[in-house]
Amino acid sequence: MRLRVEAKGGLQGRIKVPGDKSISHRSVMLGSLAEGKTEIEGFLTGEDCLSTVKAFQDMGVKIEGVGTDQMVVHGVGLRGLKEPKDLLDFGNSGTTTRLMLGILAGQKFYSVATGDDSLKSRPMARVTKPLSTMGGEFYGRDNANLLPITVVGQGELNSISYDSPVASAQVKSAVLLAGLYGEGVTEVREPAKSRDHTERMLEYFGANIEVDGLAVKVEGNPKLTGKKVVVPGDISSAAFLMVAAMITEGSEIIIENVGLNPTRDGVIEALRKMKGNFELLNQREVNGEPIADIKVKSSQLKGTIIDGDLIPLLIDEIPILAVAASQAEGKTIIKDAEELRVKETDRIDAMVKELTRLGVEVKEREDGMEIVGKQQITGGVTCQSYHDHRIAMSMAVAGLIAEGAVEVEGAECINISFPNFKELLDSLSK
Ligand code: S3P
Repeated sequence: MRLRVEAKGGLQGRIKVPGDKSISHRSVMLGSLAEGKTEIEGFLTGEDCLSTVKAFQDMGVKIEGVGTDQMVVHGVGLRGLKEPKDLLDFGNSGTTTRLMLGILAGQKFYSVATGDDSLKSRPMARVTKPLSTMGGEFYGRDNANLLPITVVGQGELNSISYDSPVASAQVKSAVLLAGLYGEGVTEVREPAKSRDHTERMLEYFGANIEVDGLAVKVEGNPKLTGKKVVVPGDISSAAFLMVAAMITEGSEIIIENVGLNPTRDGVIEALRKMKGNFELLNQREVNGEPIADIKVKSSQLKGTIIDGDLIPLLIDEIPILAVAASQAEGKTIIKDAEELRVKETDRIDAMVKELTRLGVEVKEREDGMEIVGKQQITGGVTCQSYHDHRIAMSMAVAGLIAEGAVEVEGAECINISFPNFKELLDSLSK
């Protein structure tokens, strides 16, 4: 599908973005492993989260309301999953894959995980390695680094203390979830803080969790109990609309109900550093997750440096921050972000190529990029999505200020995380 975007002037209105992708995945995972019912409100019906839903259905979990944002998961308990009869197809979802490998390692059965071409090229050794030291058994190409990966479930795992070389919530979560099948306490330490939804939700469902700075411990064999989970709006989706409002003239929008977990709100800090014109209203807490409404106006952005420990807190927002940087006064440097090279696509390579196509002066770095600001976006061009939802949406937002229309080829991938992106954007245009 081709998405066509044209400059339409300022954005106005009050909207809600769909549910948080990370929290939606985890609500189905823990809901399935818990005893009793888990009611989920605000579930993200994007393709990635539906891959997680399908995987648990394939392992015998009854889930009501699939395809809507209100679901009921009938938990089967930590040891109640059934052997899937076929391959578990995780589509495009890295989160589903890496977290599930942790869960599957601890089952009593055999399973084979696979996914689409992008997922089949993403590194999985970052989880299969530590999981193997817990006794997990994996077979796959390149030493169980690439999908398809066969998992010979062990039923029980060893508890370990693991120093992760990357600040990755997926790695941390895979080990913590496998730790549920360990006999003792499993500990993970990371080099910088990554999103902490797994530890928060495990605790909420009744697991014994201890957090001490960059270290998290979980006790094996907990009794998890079904809960009500209210999923906040996804800050990663809100970021596209925030930047859209900031870079278009005469805009004022309110995005309601956005999750502002401190391990996810790096984009707020980055946009503050860039002098973005926005306010957090009505700050409150739901299910132990902070949320707020965000009022955003057209902004005179300034270039900045985005690096260091801030990177894991805004890793998914870097493509859209690069678009914001193209409109800021002065240069923006993004560094220490080499993790972008192993996302749904190599996001450094993709953003450098596509911003260049749009007439932006941008220099590639091994670990990021340098973007010259105050650039006129060239219209009349067709951008590529690389089948990466966040690249596609970043290009669409750039199109809002182009001289002439911008088309995004392969825009159907937006459904992975933000199914009503186009409708919401249209509803904000005057
Ligand atoms: C996610 C963690 C991040 C992020 C991804 C979702 C999660 O990946 O990029 O979109 O839900 O745990 P890494 O943990 O690999 O950095």
